[in-house]
Amino acid sequence: MMSDFTSNFWNLYIAIATVVALVFTAWILLAAGKDKGKASDTTHVWDGDLTELNHPLPNWWRWLFWVLLIFSAGYLIYYPGLGSFKGIGNWSSTGQFDKEMAALEAQTRPMYERFMAMGVEELAANRQAMGTAERIFQNTCARCHGSDARGFIGFPNLRSGAWNWGGDPADIEQSIAEGRTGIMLPMGDALGGEPGIKAVVAYMRSLSGLDHEEGLMTQGEALFEENCVACHGMDAKGMKDIGAPDLTDNVWVEGGTERAMMKIVEFGHNSDLADGDFAMPPHKGVLSKGQMYLLTAYVWGLTSK
Ligand code: HEC
Ligand code: HEC
Repeated sequence: MMSDFTSNFWNLYIAIATVVALVFTAWILLAAGKDKGKASDTTHVWDGDLTELNHPLPNWWRWLFWVLLIFSAGYLIYYPGLGSFKGIGNWSSTGQFDKEMAALEAQTRPMYERFMAMGVEELAANRQAMGTAERIFQNTCARCHGSDARGFIGFPNLRSGAWNWGGDPADIEQSIAEGRTGIMLPMGDALGGEPGIKAVVAYMRSLSGLDHEEGLMTQGEALFEENCVACHGMDAKGMKDIGAPDLTDNVWVEGGTERAMMKIVEFGHNSDLADGDFAMPPHKGVLSKGQMYLLTAYVWGLTSK
């Protein structure tokens, strides 16, 4: 739809239609004012002597229209509105937004400068800072990680202490600023279908102390070593560089049931938004450096206490 307006034809079309409408209104008002306030005879006569008169519009009413007409013309000259003409006032909604943001920034800058000078630990213990961070979290993060930060299926629990991408302040800050996209390959075929998937899941469940079929252990362990250690590590404790989770801590982002595990092992998970699976979006450009630093301390503080 918007692309229709990138060609100049429609801009001109709309601008001309607008001007014509304004001129037409002025013409009607002029015509309506011609009779100088006197009632004119329409020459329509009924019942022998009943003549219909044409009373002019009251003057106040016509003047109201003139005022509105002149206002519209002035508005269209000053503000953008006439096709692609930007107006002589240099106004734009983004300009207005930028101005308001700059004013807000100037107002909160001293506060953020004070916070940025603190270490993460000190900041996490600062009530004013954490109050602000909590509000930013609720506005920006809660829709995916939950208002209590405990997450949902597919969205990590930030209070679990099990970090796929690392729980040091620098790791958390990078997760927030740059976003994270973990890719778990579909392993169904490599495992030879359902029996292999079942076996490797049984082995994985044993690592977290969950109920499992003892008879599948040998096969499961062999399949795991063959197919999974490259990403999840020899000890199955994960690899934070690629966001591969620790499979021994009984913390499950994708769900801890046998079914959920079989599903992710078979089909994988590409947490790339384009795939329909979930990813952690980057927040630089959306949040200021100061806001991201506050959130880093906030998220770090959820598990460090
Ligand atoms: C659109 C949903 C979404 C939003 C909004 C979102 N996250 Fe995430 N976040 C995710 C997903 C999904 C992951 C897991 C990504 C992965 O491992 O592939 C994640 C991962 C993380 C991680 C890494 C966890 C780990 O185990 O290492 C941190 C830290 C994090 N998010 C913090 C935040 C903060 C703070 C905010 C608000 C500024 C936020 N997230 C906003 C979806 C979201
Ligand atoms: C290419 C690297 C790679 C390989 C190979 C791989 N994984 Fe993964 N796996 C990942 C990543 C990365 C994630 C996190 C996906 C995300 O962020 O959504 C993951 C997630 C998982 C999860 C979900 C964990 C949770 O918290 O819910 C399970 C279970 C799992 N893998 C098991 C396996 C098994 C079993 C194998 C071998 C058959 C395997 N993976 C092979 C990289 C890999």
